[in-house]
Amino acid sequence: MTSFEKLPLPPGFSYREGQLYLEELKLSEIAREVGTPCFVYGANVLRQNYQRYTTAFAEAGLDLSVCYALKACSNLAVVRLFGEEGAGADVVSGGELFRALKAGIASDKIVFAGVGKTSAEIEMGLNAGIRAFNVESEPELELIEQRAKALERIARVSMRVNPDVEAHTHHYITTGKKANKFGMPVAQVTRLAGRVAKSPYLRLVGLQSHIGSQLLEVEPLAEALRVVAGLALKIERDENIALDYLDIGGGLGVAYNLREEQTASPEKLAALVKEVLADYPKSWPLLCEPGRWLVANAGVLLTEVLYLKEDGSDDENSPHFAIVDAAMNDLIRPSLYQAYHEIVPLQLEPDRELTNYEIVGPVCESGDFLAHARPLPGLQAGEKLAILGAGAYSFSMSSNYNSRGRAAEVLVDGTNWKIIRSRETYEDLVRGEAE
Ligand code: LLP
Repeated sequence: MTSFEKLPLPPGFSYREGQLYLEELKLSEIAREVGTPCFVYGANVLRQNYQRYTTAFAEAGLDLSVCYALKACSNLAVVRLFGEEGAGADVVSGGELFRALKAGIASDKIVFAGVGKTSAEIEMGLNAGIRAFNVESEPELELIEQRAKALERIARVSMRVNPDVEAHTHHYITTGKKANKFGMPVAQVTRLAGRVAKSPYLRLVGLQSHIGSQLLEVEPLAEALRVVAGLALKIERDENIALDYLDIGGGLGVAYNLREEQTASPEKLAALVKEVLADYPKSWPLLCEPGRWLVANAGVLLTEVLYLKEDGSDDENSPHFAIVDAAMNDLIRPSLYQAYHEIVPLQLEPDRELTNYEIVGPVCESGDFLAHARPLPGLQAGEKLAILGAGAYSFSMSSNYNSRGRAAEVLVDGTNWKIIRSRETYEDLVRGEAE
């Protein structure tokens, strides 16, 4: 028995007679039909994740609107699926706003975040009539007011507070500390709230904070909410306004190392949020912007072993390279954040011994790796592997580096499946270029 049979697989995945399934489909069949590398997502897993998240808050008696953070996985089919479950959208660019609207998300369920919104993006949001702009700085607020005036509209704004809270995550994805470019300190938000209240072109609808991503502990989120709720109370009193909601951001983390980590619990978060709000004389409706928690473990990247490469020496420290057909352009998380992704064979071979492999891609960089010293049962060229936890920030961060076409994306739904993005062709690679 290999250790993979004992690995606690994420919901929706199972080995049946040694074959890896997602929902009711054998992943080797999809790899054969669609080719590799290829991303596969489970529709029922996505739905169940969404339902668990919203149910946790509903059962805690909290009024929550979920705006799915498109940046995690922005495929139209995935966005549409969440829309059908009742989600709104959190977008950070004109491109994501375009996707959200195209996927059928109602404009009054869309919030627009990001520190560098352009004039054109602000106008796009105003014309669409989005629920709110999450404002990140004073000059941005000025531009929103100016564009709203020019278009004779009222811009709904929610101000992003930087609560200066430590989120205990990778420093690239920590956003709620003073040193980060995100949000504004409490004093500045207080001052700007007065300005918004006086403007005929602006309406302050909420306050927001998002302190970072992949948070496996929920306490820092509660700490941030305390700052935001205290500020909300003060602003409502000073300006004699009522906010529509408080936005608690996204950030809930998932288990990537399935033996060592536990996915963060929305039930714990909901209970803690309820506890924090109980200290205030009023309870605001809430908005949140989860991305990763909803999609990360609902997706895999399928890849094929192309070559096994060894240096032929007796040195036991010599690396065993398994060169696979997926690379850093498909999944950059290991290279960029030293992220761990579980890797499992599509077909279990019980009699093979474990070897520590360097799982690397074809891209011409030593930084192109998917896993270091990873114990896997003796690999052979031609066999297929699944890289787990590849639903979030995987395809959406992929690129054409080394002129590699981006991978196909597939959505499995019970016993059905469909391609939701075709593999890019060579012609796709040069589209828009001039010689
Ligand atoms: N709201 C805001 C304002 C955000 O900046 C983010 C993520 C989210 C919501 C969604 O956060 P989530 O629930 O997914 O943690 N590429 C990195 C993650 C970057 C997160 C950026 N902001 C990674 O692969 O780990």
